[in-house]
Order: sequence, then C-alpha cells, then structure tokens
Amino acid sequence: MEESGQPTATTESVNAVLSAIDPDRQRPRDVLAAERLTLRFGAKTILSDVDVTFPRGTITALIGPTGSGKSTFLRTLNRMNDKVYGFRHEGDVLLEGESIWDRGQDLLTIRRRIGMLFQRPNPFPMSIKDNVVAGVRAHRIARGKQLDVVAETRLREVGLWDAVKDRLNDSPYRLSGGQQQLLCLARALAVGPEVLLLDEPTSALDPLSTEAVENLMRAMIPALTIVVVTHNLGQARRVSDSTMFFYDGRLVEHGPTEALFASPRQPDTERYVNGLMG
Ligand SMILES: Nc1ncnc2c1ncn2[C@@H]1O[C@H](COP(=O)(O)OP(=O)(O)O)[C@@H](O)[C@H]1O
Ligand SMILES: [Mg+2]
Repeated sequence: MEESGQPTATTESVNAVLSAIDPDRQRPRDVLAAERLTLRFGAKTILSDVDVTFPRGTITALIGPTGSGKSTFLRTLNRMNDKVYGFRHEGDVLLEGESIWDRGQDLLTIRRRIGMLFQRPNPFPMSIKDNVVAGVRAHRIARGKQLDVVAETRLREVGLWDAVKDRLNDSPYRLSGGQQQLLCLARALAVGPEVLLLDEPTSALDPLSTEAVENLMRAMIPALTIVVVTHNLGQARRVSDSTMFFYDGRLVEHGPTEALFASPRQPDTERYVNGLMG
C-alpha cells in the first residue's frame, strides 16, 4: 500500500493473487523429465540415452516387446532401482526441475510424490481400511478420526466403497484380484501423489476390472500425471495422450498416441503396433 491508499501492483503481489486462483500456474509444465538417461545392470546396457518429458496432467504409455526395458525405465523414475544389485545410471531424472538423486532429496518424499502400482495387486497384511491409510499414517498426513474420512473418500474414489464398507476391518486377501488392485490404487492416491507409475496394472485383471482401472486413469487427469507400461496396445490407445516405443535398448519413437499408432515414423514401431513383432 502507498500513502495514497492505492495498492501498488508488484510482480510479487500479482503472482500471489494468480497463484491463489491457480496454484499450478507457477509450477513447471513438465512435472517429470529424463535427460540423456542410460540404464545398466552390471556390464549390460538396458537403455541408452533416453530424453523425454512428462507434461503435467497427461498420460504416457510405454510399449515394447518383453525385455525392452520398460519396467527398468519406469522403476528408475522413483528410484526403485537404486538398491538393485548392479544397477547404474548416467544422465538424470528431474522432478519439477530437480534431480531425484540430489543430495537434498528425501527418498520417502519422492515416493510420496511419485506413487506406483504393480502388475500383481500387493495389499499389505493388514485390514482393508489400514491398507488405504497406510501411507497417510506413515507420512503423518492425517490421524485418528481423519483416517476414517480419508479411507472412505479414497475407497469411494476408486469405486470400492459399497463393496467393502461393511468389512473395513477384514483382510484384503478375500477380495477379488480386481478389487485388490483398486484397493492398492486407493492406497497410492491417498498420499496425494503428483505422478503415478503403473506397471502393467491390468494384465492380471478381468475385462470389467480392467475397464474400471482405465476409467479411473482418465478420471485422475489432469490432477495427476500418469506413466503406464502396458502390453495391451488397445489400452495404450484408449487411455494415453502420448506413447513411447522401446525396442532393442532404445527409445525408438515417442509421439502423440494417435499419430504413433496411425502413422508410425519408424519401421520397427510400425511392425510392433501392427502385431508383426512380439
Ligand atoms: N535386476 C536385474 N538384474 C539384471 N538384469 C535385469 C534386472 N532386471 C531386469 N533386467 C534385464 O533388463 C532387461 C529389461 O528388463 P525389463 O525392464 O523388465 O523389460 P520389460 O519391462 O520391457 O519387459 C531384460 O533383459 C532383463 O533381463
Ligand atoms: Mg516389465
């Protein structure tokens, strides 16, 4: 405020107002990026020189034959490979512009910001409700009665509430495979991640559960950024905005999903998306 009583619009004050209207305004558009990333196990190079950005609020599908390095790449993005014997990386992965391997980075925080869902549902050996709030408890995001609210909200979000509301204290292992996967998704969402990494999340599920998970993925956009490995080319086409094709230790092609499937630029991509290669 100046003496005249007129507010002075400084860059800071304008930014503060705009950020209050749209909290994401000042955040980098690319939530996650790999820069010249090379991944090896021992002497074996799994992937060379991958450059990619993951724009906020999009779904990227990773496709390619078995053994092409999709899981290795995905697991590197939240440092799941760090402790794997023989694993080495060159290049970098940036989370909102900062290296995930920076000294100042806290691994638990990275895992909270970049959540993960695997091929096989992996509920913890505890009650259904405790599964949903496990991460919330660990990160002290909520406690006591708030945990019940978190559990209900997240179970409703993934469409499981009606099925489990009368058995919240039961074991999750009697749920169907599809329900267990939705429970794991509820658990991943509960800690408020920015990015979700999914490694063939529906390959062990029946068609109806698969459809439920695909619908949820679309519903999570644009609040979340998703990277999903899938063997199901129909799924990649249905859910993703852009697709990366890995083959023979390289990122062969990356582009808008429709373009990559309809008019691939590389012969190997064309063979793969047309079912002529494993
Ligand atoms: N822990 C590991 N140690 C050594 N090699 C591994 C390890 N994990 C995966 N690999 C190798 O890395 C390559 C890529 O595997 P992976 O990333 O699982 O491929 P995809 O998910 O595309 O099927 C394969 O040749 C696999 O044998
Ligand atoms: Mg894999």
